[in-house]
Amino acid sequence: MATYKIALMPGDGTGPEVLREGMKVVKAAAHRFGFKLETQEYDFGGDRYLKTGEVLPDSAIDELKKVDAIFLGAIGHPDVKPGILEKGILLRVRFELDQYINLRPVKLYPNVETPLKNKGPEDIDFVVVRENSADVYTGLGGAMRVGTPYEVAIQEMVYSRNEVDRCLRYAFEFTRKRNKRKTLTLCGKTNVLTYVYGLWERAFHEMGAKEFPDVKREYAHVDATTMWMVKNPEWFDVIVTGNMFGDIITDLGAMIQGGMGIAAGGNINPNGVSMFEPIGGSAPKYTGQNVINPLAAIFAGQMLLDHLGETKAAAAVERACVAFLESRVLRGLSVKEIKESGMSTTKIGDAIAELTAKA
Ligand code: IPM
Ligand code: MN
Repeated sequence: MATYKIALMPGDGTGPEVLREGMKVVKAAAHRFGFKLETQEYDFGGDRYLKTGEVLPDSAIDELKKVDAIFLGAIGHPDVKPGILEKGILLRVRFELDQYINLRPVKLYPNVETPLKNKGPEDIDFVVVRENSADVYTGLGGAMRVGTPYEVAIQEMVYSRNEVDRCLRYAFEFTRKRNKRKTLTLCGKTNVLTYVYGLWERAFHEMGAKEFPDVKREYAHVDATTMWMVKNPEWFDVIVTGNMFGDIITDLGAMIQGGMGIAAGGNINPNGVSMFEPIGGSAPKYTGQNVINPLAAIFAGQMLLDHLGETKAAAAVERACVAFLESRVLRGLSVKEIKESGMSTTKIGDAIAELTAKA
């Protein structure tokens, strides 16, 4: 029987609560499809930092390099200055483990409300492949005369051909394997960022023409992409883009698929260790109340299973989520609606775990 080692990083705020439900469902799938999970929990996050001053020790990075996957709850603490935990934990793991792809499905499920008028699940079903290792996120830059009226600040948008190529290759292969409309849209800004997105555009067409003639190539500027995501989301199948643009358009993507409570993402190293997370954040004001919707963490669990190669288990989790949403037990995904439905974080997890056992 296959056994997978999973590192759990519950993190801050409601992270532990949603991760617990995500794991409950993943375990139900493991039980049904006959594989085992060995978990190791790490308490990195705001509380530990405030107590010990430690964000993420080097020894943890070494340990994380040895597991089959990492499952993250949420990072972000109201008493910690913004940037410390995000950079020290989330970005550090992404960089050190070379998780150079950020995979973000944007899929509207039945009975989930989208703010887009006249759009339904048949219109909103695409995936963003966000480059996850370079761009302005490298931190290359500097400042001088800080705090004076003559302050200068530089933060560079950096891409090497190799970083662009490896991301594009993943995106083309993903589009081919997804086998829907087999259309890959490059989202860039070739009219202004001529160096960086000029490189992306050349690499995109060269690789596409040579290695992926079966995948249709399209291009959209990032500003137009945001417009079309709202106006005509059905145009998209897979979007590939740089780190910064990807960060921005995936929050928009999360909103059109029903909000942060349902959006999940994977930080992927195709040849190494990947990390899966609900992208909603730590929602500190609801900590410990058992009222936050765990669906995003459960979908992150589905992505984790898929990544481990347990595709049947992943599909069962998705079917269970769909069945749960179709049952209309929930009036909506907000805290208010969860309370009104007489549900809780735990109850939603229980219901979906039960459905996973038979879905
Ligand atoms: C995300 C987040 C992170 C990012 C932050 C928390 C550093 O917004 O995963 O999208 O910018 O990548
Ligand atoms: Mn973001």
